[in-house]
Amino acid sequence: MRIFVPMDSAAKALGADLVAVALAAAAPDAEIIRTGTRGMIWLEPLVEVEIDGVRQGYGPATPEDAAAILDGSSEKALGPVEELDWVTRQARLTFARVGVIAPLSLSDYEAHGGLSGLRRALDMTGEEIVGEVTASGLRGRGGAGFPTGIKWKTVLEADAPQKYIVCNADEGDSGTFADRMIMEGDPFTLIEGMAIAGLGVGATRGYLYLRSEYPDAIRVMEEAVRLARAAGILGPDVLGSGRAFDMEIRKGAGAYVCGEETSLLNSLEGKRGVVRAKPPLPALEGFLGRPTVVNNVISLATVPVIFEKGAAHHASFGIGKSRGTITLQIAGNVKHGGLFETGFGLTLGEVIDEIAGGTATGRPVKAVQVGGPLGAYMPRDKFDAPLGYEEFGAEGGLIGHAGLVVFDDTADMLGMARFAMEFCAVESCGKCTPCRIGAVRGVETIDRIAQGDAAAIPLLTDLCETMTDGSLCALGGFTPYPVMSALTHFPEDFATAKEAAE
Ligand code: NAI
Ligand code: SF4
Repeated sequence: MRIFVPMDSAAKALGADLVAVALAAAAPDAEIIRTGTRGMIWLEPLVEVEIDGVRQGYGPATPEDAAAILDGSSEKALGPVEELDWVTRQARLTFARVGVIAPLSLSDYEAHGGLSGLRRALDMTGEEIVGEVTASGLRGRGGAGFPTGIKWKTVLEADAPQKYIVCNADEGDSGTFADRMIMEGDPFTLIEGMAIAGLGVGATRGYLYLRSEYPDAIRVMEEAVRLARAAGILGPDVLGSGRAFDMEIRKGAGAYVCGEETSLLNSLEGKRGVVRAKPPLPALEGFLGRPTVVNNVISLATVPVIFEKGAAHHASFGIGKSRGTITLQIAGNVKHGGLFETGFGLTLGEVIDEIAGGTATGRPVKAVQVGGPLGAYMPRDKFDAPLGYEEFGAEGGLIGHAGLVVFDDTADMLGMARFAMEFCAVESCGKCTPCRIGAVRGVETIDRIAQGDAAAIPLLTDLCETMTDGSLCALGGFTPYPVMSALTHFPEDFATAKEAAE
């Protein structure tokens, strides 16, 4: 009998390790396979028992449920996992194997399509590889949505003795966890994606900059790199092709701003994580001053499926200029939170009301912060906004890294605006004045509004304009998104504070 229990850190935090131990004790002959998560966090720990080749789900499981799960009498039976609504409604390209395979089993990986993309890329020239990525329509999934093919082409065409691939795994946005989940659940796909990127642009070395707050992801990735090297996927002769690519893992020390690519590069070089002015672009002068592809985990982890199934397959998902899938990370006050991968184009309302099932408290949704701590708070009257970079942007939103944090009607939006400014003040690298000083003044100004000083409201608006126009990077430049969206869409929260003070 084969039993699958996730070893993803979200599942572990909910007791998956203890459940695995209890199942092993109750069924000593069974094979317990640890997987990533299917992304249905409200059902974790989600145990899957294979019966006649079909994986039957039970969750959320506790160690006490072990006996009943094994004899099939458990009240937590969910039926075949592949038939659950959350699973059938998705289009899993990037996350196809997550929750399905044993993350560190290369044979499992290959049996589920792994390495076929790399094998195909090995028969292509750099120009052809970059052309395939361009044709797929892939855009940077870290937040900015910059076309990956154009970025790779810039690096490919740069003339330099050494080029680099740097993967940004400093996933610092609140409410986001897609990078972590893929690294813990399907690490070889990221390695394969980085190797294809290296072949494409002519880079023989890669670095995975992984935040230290992700110890499980670090452990899994380190082991996966070791296994990949031993199997000849990484090294001087990738899969016997005579072409070289190798990579190593570097741990970040936990500064939010080190997720900004130039700050990350400084940190990677052993310097203080301060933002560099652009230009020069990292694509031309990046790590150690050499041409460097800096891509987010999800961007690189999507590359193998593009090469496995073809650019046209990837491009067939999505809307407008947003091709492929969006890996929604649904969090906050929701009934059903987790990872949901789907083609771009669903509306925010469909995601919150239908997929997430509304709030966990059962109260009305007041706002959804989309795109991390620098993303706008979207009110219900923006719920028709389709999730596509341009389409959502036209409604004042920012998709960012596709994290969604849901708030019910008890949320205090003035408090949330204050938090955004405070976050910026704490995390600012200090290089430019609008952010370093502006965020501190922003907190003070919001405090004045809370105390009933209506004259501080236009001051806050002015300050936000200055931060937007004058900041060097997205931290100072985008903090006005949550602040101004709170003020614009929920003026009553600012007025209530004023009246209360009077
Ligand atoms: P950006 O718009 O300056 O650049 C996007 C990317 O395109 C960069 O890698 C840049 O080097 C590259 N690029 C631009 N023009 C190019 C060209 N002509 N040739 C080659 N490459 C070119 O945006 P930035 O500052 O890198 O990222 C901002 C985004 O980061 C925000 O939208 C925000 O959502 C997101 N973000 C994500 C976080 C996370 O945890 N994933 C945390 C904080 C912010
Ligand atoms: Fe540093 Fe803030 Fe300026 Fe970005 S906006 S460079 S984080 S001071």
